[in-house]
Amino acid sequence: MPESDFIAAPFLNLIERGTFSWSAPSNIALVKYWGKKAHQIPANPSISFTLNNCKTITSVVFEKKSTDEDFSFELLFEGKPKEDFKPKIEKFLERIATYCLYLKQYHFTIDTRNTFPHSSGIASSASGMAALSMNIMSLEKVLNPKMTDDYFYQKASFLARLGSGSACRSIKGKAVVWGNHAEINGSSDLFGVEFPGQIHPNFENYQDTILLVDKGEKQVSSTVGHNLMNGHPYAENRFHQAHSNLSKLKMVLENGDLQSFIEIVESEALTLHAMMMASMPYFILMKPNTLEIINRIWNFRKQSNIPVCFTLDAGANVHVLYPQKNKVEILQFIQDELVGYCENGQYICDEIGRGASLINNE
Ligand code: PMV
Repeated sequence: MPESDFIAAPFLNLIERGTFSWSAPSNIALVKYWGKKAHQIPANPSISFTLNNCKTITSVVFEKKSTDEDFSFELLFEGKPKEDFKPKIEKFLERIATYCLYLKQYHFTIDTRNTFPHSSGIASSASGMAALSMNIMSLEKVLNPKMTDDYFYQKASFLARLGSGSACRSIKGKAVVWGNHAEINGSSDLFGVEFPGQIHPNFENYQDTILLVDKGEKQVSSTVGHNLMNGHPYAENRFHQAHSNLSKLKMVLENGDLQSFIEIVESEALTLHAMMMASMPYFILMKPNTLEIINRIWNFRKQSNIPVCFTLDAGANVHVLYPQKNKVEILQFIQDELVGYCENGQYICDEIGRGASLINNE
C-alpha cells in the first residue's frame, strides 16, 4: 500500500464529541531495528514478540472546535497535567497531520498511564504511541464508517511508526514484522504486519521476564543511536545480517527449533550492542550486572538444559525469554541467582500478548 493511501479525504460530517480508550502493549524485538532513513523508514526489517502486561492505557476526549489553525490538546499523565510530555505529542501530531487532516478541527484531552513503573528503564514510547494512534483511528473510523478493519489496523501502525519506529509493532498480532523482507508476504517499511506464518506451539504463551538492572535515564537516546548507523563502518553488513536472521527466524517460529531460536535471538541482542560500541562516538548501555546476568543464564542453560535465553533492548535491562512450561524452574532460578543483580531486586513478569485492545468507545 503506498503512503498516499493513508491520507484521509476531508470529511464533511464531523462529530461534535467522542471519547475513546485503548490499551497498547510494549514489544520486544527478536531481530532488531537499529538504523533508520528519513521519515522513520527502517534501515532493515525487524520482528518482535508483542507483550501482554507492560502496556499504556490512553483515553482521548475529542471536542470539535471552531477554528482549525493549530493543534489544541491537553495532556494528562495518571490524571494530572504533564507539560514535559507535550513537545513529543506535538511533534507526533505534526508528523501525522498530512494523513489526518481532521485533527486540527478538534481539541483533545489525552489521559495516559502505564501499567509498568515510570522510571523502570522500560520505554513507554512504543506502547504510548501505539495507544494514541488507536484512539485517533477510532475517531477516523467514526468519521468514515466504511473503513475496513485491515485499513484501520494498518493505518494505526503507520501512524504509530511516525511517533516512534518500533511502536508500529505494538498494534496487532503475537509476532509482528516491520520492514520489507523478500520472504514475508505483505511486509512493509511503512507499517508492521502480523507474522503471516503459523507459530509453533513451543512459542505458545512464551514468557518474558524483564530484569530491571538500571532504571535510570539512558545516556544515549535511541534516536541518537539510530543516527549513528549512518556512516557506521559495519552498517551494510549488519543490515544484510538482519535480513538473513529474519529468514532464519521465520523458519524457527514455524518449526519450533528452540536451539536455533536461542542462537539467533542472543546474537541479535549482542550485535545491537556491538553496533553501539563500534559507533563514533561509541557508547555502552550494558552495565556490569547485565553481563553478570548473561553469564549466569548461560551457565544455568548448560547445567539444566532448559531453553532459556536473553535479549536486550537499547538499555541495560535483560529480557529473559523461555517456554511457559519451564516457568516454575526459571522463576526459581531468577529468585535464587538473578534478583541480586536487579535494581532494588525488581523484575516484571510478562508474556506474549495479542496487541492493542479497545477499552471504551462512546
Ligand atoms: O523505536 P525506537 O526508535 O525506540 O528504537 C527501538 C530500537 C530497539 O529497541 C533497540 C530495537 C527494536 O527493534 O525495538
